Amino acid sequence: MTGALAPTLKLRRGARIPLLGLGTWPLDDAQTAAAVITAVDAGYRLFDTAENYRNERGVGEGIRRSGIERGEVFLTTKFNKEWHSRDGAKRAFEKSARRLGVDYIDLLLLHWPNPEQDRYVDAVAGLADLFADGRLRAIGTSNFKAHHLQRLIDAGLVPDLNQIQLDPRHARSEVRAVHRQHGIVTESWSPLGQGSGLLESGPIAGLAAKYGRAPAQIVLRWHVQQGLVAIPKSATPERIHQNISIFDFELDDDDMAQLRGLDAGEDGVADSDRFGH
Ligand SMILES: NC(=O)c1ccc[n+]([C@@H]2O[C@H](COP(=O)([O-])OP(=O)(O)OC[C@H]3O[C@@H](n4cnc5c(N)ncnc54)[C@H](OP(=O)(O)O)[C@@H]3O)[C@@H](O)[C@H]2O)c1
Repeated sequence: MTGALAPTLKLRRGARIPLLGLGTWPLDDAQTAAAVITAVDAGYRLFDTAENYRNERGVGEGIRRSGIERGEVFLTTKFNKEWHSRDGAKRAFEKSARRLGVDYIDLLLLHWPNPEQDRYVDAVAGLADLFADGRLRAIGTSNFKAHHLQRLIDAGLVPDLNQIQLDPRHARSEVRAVHRQHGIVTESWSPLGQGSGLLESGPIAGLAAKYGRAPAQIVLRWHVQQGLVAIPKSATPERIHQNISIFDFELDDDDMAQLRGLDAGEDGVADSDRFGH
């Protein structure tokens, strides 16, 4: 039986994105296709991949084998720094679209800003061209800090969404304030803390016991209850189902406040002024 769908959020250029999706790194094509098929059945409609993950073909294959209509799913992919130019964004789109087996992509992201190249503004201009041509439903960035976003805002190129590392220990308040001010949706990567011990930590375990939920469900509920789009990765069918089964309960204000107390600032956040590909 197909699971319930996640609620959606409206992006500034009009597309609607589900609040919960499936991450696919570091799965290979075959593992990705299998996870996507399970996820479609569980009610997922948002799928996150990237040129760099080398599994876009697996996402496309999973979608086709699941039998779901192309228009029912929201596909996100990302391109590497070698495509950071206005024309390069278009070539990156063509290559990703071919690997995915689609003629439009819902959301295309610059994977990292790579400020040492100083070409991300041009690349986002290329995304805006692709949006105007109907090849994209939304445009975005990943791993952009407030000062990277400011240059886009100054150029009149406000992205629909910025995908950033975000979990209760890394709540990213500075960049989220910029998002809020400009109507940019925040999407959380490594929303479960990617094996960092977050799920086993005392406060999360305590809330899991209180609500009778899995620790991952507490953390994912914390994301979506604040309007953050979360893309947990799992290749385990039971967890794929568990991670989307979070729209039938609510964390109370005191518990949300307790989780806010876990924020350790930028410690442990990948520094996109120094790292990127
Ligand atoms: N834009 C970027 O630069 C960037 C960087 C990193 C990641 N991402 C994207 O974000 C996605 C998610 O991030 P992530 O994969 O780094 O970390 P994550 O989703 O926070 O954590 C994934 C890990 O949690 C486990 N897990 C999943 N559901 C669970 C559950 N219900 N209970 C217990 N453990 C659970 C998974 O194991 P099993 O698979 O064994 O279940 C996996 O080991 C990636 O897949 C990728 O699509 C983007």
